[in-house]
Parts: sequence; C-alpha cells; structure tokens
Amino acid sequence: MSCPVGNSNGQNADGQEGEHLGADVGMLYGEYLMLDKVLSSQRMLSANSDHPVHDEHLFIVTHQAYELWFKQIIFEVDSIRDLFNQENIEESNTLEILKRLNRITLILNLLVDQVPILETMTPLDFMDFRDYLSPASGFQSLQFRLLENKLGVKTEHRVRYNQSYSHVFGTDSEAIEALQKSEQDPSLSNLVQKWLERTPGLEHDGFDFWGKFKERVDKLLNEKEEQASSEPTEFVKNYRLMDIQKRRDVYKTVFDPKVHEALVARGERRFTYKALQGAMMISFYRDEPRFSQPHQILMLLMDIDSLITKWRYNHVIMVQRMIGSQQLGTGGSSGYQYLRSTLSDRYKVFIDLFNLSTFLIPRHYIPELSLEMKHVLTHSKEKLHQKECCKDGHNGTPSNGTV
Ligand code: HEM
Repeated sequence: MSCPVGNSNGQNADGQEGEHLGADVGMLYGEYLMLDKVLSSQRMLSANSDHPVHDEHLFIVTHQAYELWFKQIIFEVDSIRDLFNQENIEESNTLEILKRLNRITLILNLLVDQVPILETMTPLDFMDFRDYLSPASGFQSLQFRLLENKLGVKTEHRVRYNQSYSHVFGTDSEAIEALQKSEQDPSLSNLVQKWLERTPGLEHDGFDFWGKFKERVDKLLNEKEEQASSEPTEFVKNYRLMDIQKRRDVYKTVFDPKVHEALVARGERRFTYKALQGAMMISFYRDEPRFSQPHQILMLLMDIDSLITKWRYNHVIMVQRMIGSQQLGTGGSSGYQYLRSTLSDRYKVFIDLFNLSTFLIPRHYIPELSLEMKHVLTHSKEKLHQKECCKDGHNGTPSNGTV
C-alpha cells in the first residue's frame, strides 16, 4: 500500500526513522492496518504436534483472505441497498451503484480464481491436519450466509439441510440474530424489483409497453403460423405448428399473471410481475440514453449470480479432489453431494434476468417508442423536471421517471 506516512519498518519515504514522525503526522502503516492482529492470527494447530503440516498455513491464510473479501462485498452490498432504498434514485446514484456492483464482480472474479491456489495442497497433505480442525467448516461462515441473504437467497429455496440456522450456529445468539435480521431487511433483489416496477413506460394509461409487447408477440406468432400452414410437407408443417404452439405456451407464462404467480409460488420465478415487465422493457430499449445505465446494472446483477455459481462450482470440484464424494463434510453435511445441490438455479437470485432471453423477439418486432416516450428516455430526469416546471408552472415530476 502506498502510504503518505511511512513503511512497515517505521521509516518514511525518505528513509528517515519513524520516531521523527510526530503525532501530528498520523499513524504508521502497521498501526493503521492493525497488522499486529491480522498477522498474528495464523494459528497452526499442527505446529505443536509431532508432525507440523506445512500446508496448514496456506489453508488458514486462504480462508482468512476469503473472509476479508466477503466483508468487503457485504460492505458494498449494504451501501448499494441503501442507494436503491429510495423512491427517486438520482442519475448520479445510478452511476455509484454501477461502480460498486462492478467492484463486487471484480472481487468475485478474484475469489473464483483463488481456488486453484489452495488446490496446490494435495489430499494427503490435507488429511495430515484435517482432524485438528473438526468440526469447523466453511458451512459455519456467517458472512457467506449473510451475503446470500442480503442478495436475496430465500430460506425456502435452500437445500433442506441448510434451512435451519440453529444446527449450525446453535449457541451463537448474535449470529442467529444477524441472520434473522438479514432475512427480514429488504434484500438487494427486493429493492431492485421495486426500482424496476417504477420503469417509465409501463403505465397502462401511458406508453403501455406490456400491452404493445403482447400485440407484437401475437403478430409474430400469427405470421409464423400462417407461414407454417402453407408448408407443403405434412410432417414439416405439423412440426412447425407444434413448435409455434409451444412458443405460445411459453409466452402465456409471462402474459397471464396467474401463470406467473404460480411459477413464483413454485420458486421457478422470483420477480414480481411488474418488475419482470420493467426488466424486459429496459433490455429492449437499452440503447436509449436513460436505459443505458439501468441495463448495465441488470448485466452486473447477472454477473454476480454467475460468479457466485462459478465459485460454488470451483469449490465443489476442490472438495471432491480433497475428500472425494463419499465422505461427510466436517460441518456434518453429506459433503460433496450437499455442495453439488447448491449449484441449482434455486440459489440464483436474479434467475429472471437470465430467463428474459426466452421471451425476446426479433428487433423489427419490438414496439416503436412514441415521440413522448422517446423524449422521456432521451433527456435526463433533471432536464425533464426543469421543463415540466416551466411548462406547467408547478413543481411536478415527469411520469414515473425513476430510473
Ligand atoms: C480443502 C479445502 C476445502 C474443503 C475440503 C472444503 C470442504 C467443504 C465441505 C465438505 C463443505 C460442506 C459443509 C460441511 O462441511 O459439511 C463446505 C462448505 C463450505 N465451504 Fe468449504 N472446503 C474447503 C475450502 C473452502 C474455502 C477456501 C472456503 C472459503 C471461504 C470455503 C467456504 C465454504 C463455504 C462458504 C461453505 C458453505 C457452502 C454452502 O453451504 O453453500 N471452503 N466446504
């Protein structure tokens, strides 16, 4: 770390002794970072045994590094939740949200790439000290569980073994309280949905994006049906008609709110009906200036889900390499089998964003923006606000311009 006050030897940049630095200059590097605590926290349990195990040091440092980064990610997620937790999100805040989401994805990339470093330890090396750490397990990582909750992983979507905190954090009331709070507070997913629900252009009595989108889908499928019906070969014709019917059924899951709610109840869809519409509208019109940042936000949210899944995958592969697929984990789960089940879509918080692609239509079928809508999506909220004030002589805000 480049530091204005000196280096860890107590010397400043000119090589002068630290004692020349008075209280007015500030702290030294090690003091500021509390390195006495951080660097004396690598307690190797095998060190006092007859067979000290070299690799235990790497094992401890790796886990500690993960926990520090988890802490930073939680710090960023909390701040992003605060920024989202407002009725009107200023455009400058959207930029800050983007910056912090991007930072989270970079850290997660690092965490994914960090797994192979621990894989330089062989299973035999691990076996040499595994007994010392039992029953400690990453399963008891409070920060990992908090992070999942803050992002929006729901208890009911977890693998059953992992639905109760008490058998993991039984006697730790502080941990249980923190976990319960993280479940009750609005998650990032909840707040993103509230924000998407306010997407300008969804109003039935305004641009009515959803009504227009449905019309275009009907047009597309009717045209395809007409083409398929004139197909001379019976086999090909039936195949195409069947395919179109399947597409109609798929679209029914977004156009019929009852079907949507049923999918939400089954855990196959997470977003509210309106939030889904907002996300769809943003992805269609992402080239419009005011949808550009929201679109990037949606992409980064998917990146976060992807990267956590990649971490889960790298971790499970490492676990199989270290302890195989038949041994129980030190945390008491079925080990490899349990971890494999967490790779399921049920752990993806922004699954609906991934699935938007199911409902895409070719560009030339996308409903054209009205002049008014184009105007709303071209000018910044502040500009629109000024115009509105001048025009009407009142202090009103433009329709739902809350992106
Ligand atoms: C030799 C290396 C490792 C082995 C053999 C291993 C093994 C396991 C096993 C078997 C589990 C399932 C729970 C249980 O213990 O019953 C687990 C869970 C977990 N481990 Fe590891 N692990 C290793 C490294 C790491 C590292 C470096 C981290 C970084 C923080 C980590 C974090 C976690 C977390 C967060 C869970 C809970 C996952 C969930 O419930 O979805 N593990 N680990």
